[in-house]
Amino acid sequence: MSASTPPRTPPKTYSVKSFGCQMNVYDGERMAELLAAEGMRPADEGAAADLVVLNTCHIREKATEKVYSDIGRIVKDGRENGVVPLIAVAGCVAQAEGEEIMARAPSVRVVVGPQAYHRLPEMVAEAAAGGRATETDMPAEAKFAALPKRRKVGASAFLTVQEGCDKFCTYCVVPYTRGAELSRPYADLVSEARALVEGGAREITLLGQNVNAWSGEDEKGRSVGLAGLAEELAKIEELARIRYTTSHPADMDDALIEAHGSNPKLMPFLHLPVQSGSDRVLKAMNRSHTAASYLRILERVRAARPDIALSGDFIVGFPGETEAEFEETLQIIAEARYAQAFSFKYSARPGTPAATMDGQIAAEVMDDRLQRLIAALQRDSLAFNKASVGKRCAVLVERKGRHAGQWLGKSPWLQSVHFTGDAALGDLVEVDLVEAGPNSLGGRLVARAAA
Ligand code: 5AD
Ligand code: SF4
Repeated sequence: MSASTPPRTPPKTYSVKSFGCQMNVYDGERMAELLAAEGMRPADEGAAADLVVLNTCHIREKATEKVYSDIGRIVKDGRENGVVPLIAVAGCVAQAEGEEIMARAPSVRVVVGPQAYHRLPEMVAEAAAGGRATETDMPAEAKFAALPKRRKVGASAFLTVQEGCDKFCTYCVVPYTRGAELSRPYADLVSEARALVEGGAREITLLGQNVNAWSGEDEKGRSVGLAGLAEELAKIEELARIRYTTSHPADMDDALIEAHGSNPKLMPFLHLPVQSGSDRVLKAMNRSHTAASYLRILERVRAARPDIALSGDFIVGFPGETEAEFEETLQIIAEARYAQAFSFKYSARPGTPAATMDGQIAAEVMDDRLQRLIAALQRDSLAFNKASVGKRCAVLVERKGRHAGQWLGKSPWLQSVHFTGDAALGDLVEVDLVEAGPNSLGGRLVARAAA
């Protein structure tokens, strides 16, 4: 491992590139804020940055490979431009493969895990002075306290409330890369949420690997779960919408289910991964729920909030999955009627129990199952969207559309809605939903301010 390089001028510009989950997007934003607080500025669009932070994802093999190809490309482009930027690898690949990255990629000067990135500025300084810095300590208690206060944010902002996972699904690296479940304190979250709203957020999505396992103590010392936190956040007047993701079926408690009926700011959307519809596969995955117990939760959530939009995650080709077991997944999809979903081919992750299980499934079989799964899910998301046509709803305007005067925003059910008319970023407008495709809806603007 090359230990040092000649010192360089401390970087003045940065770019942070996040891969993978929404938690990484949040972490990436916070890293950018940290660097900005040190006086650095984001590199202009398309221009080379002095410091490139790759905020990586380790969840599947493809995501991991991407890191090495990205490093290679940055180095190549840098050589062509006459200067290779300082490269920092952050996120879950840094946590899991820090030493390997340092050995394989001499141009990487900083490796920082997801629980240690509050130290990024000092590590960058160390690297600029010619050294190399690695920090993969866990857990995260120190991190949040060390991050700067949040300022300007978009209409929809993320807020990490919980990190880590104690569930140990047998296919998953998260318990190893993000560590044990840790809930951030109630008071910190309430004040960070207020800062986000002051900075322009109208919607906050509470994030956690097991967000509904969040627990804390309110200002009176009473223990509260996610429903209690959402109830407190709902008191922030200018905050219009609260969402949360990702949830585990085992932590879907009565209070949270009821909150979907009683907290009007809690949006009618639930991302609740099931992974498989086969009880044998679920057991081998160590999922602590069955197909029936999962469907029972959905039934209760629908009783509390009949219009709820459901979302899920699925894995095809888990070791030993038979055709009949895969068909049970198609079956649960037909019963659950998802509004949207994410589906993945099983990817063996080193160090997880499933990676060494018998019955690894051939690539062609996985491809075939994935195609059939996607077809079933698309059928249902189109049906869900079509059933929304004719509804009048609030849309939170998040982006400009491709055409002049066109805007893109989100319905309460997290559908992408495009419409044209007099609106501005961050508006909550009233829209009639008039047409539907599998991935988005077209709307007609009714009023600039939603009722
Ligand atoms: N292979 C394929 N998909 C995986 N996921 C997690 N680990 C793996 C893996 N090894 C999926 C799960 C999870 C989502 C975030 O990623 O569906 O819910
Ligand atoms: Fe991974 Fe399972 Fe934890 Fe989700 S609940 S992060 S899939 S181990």
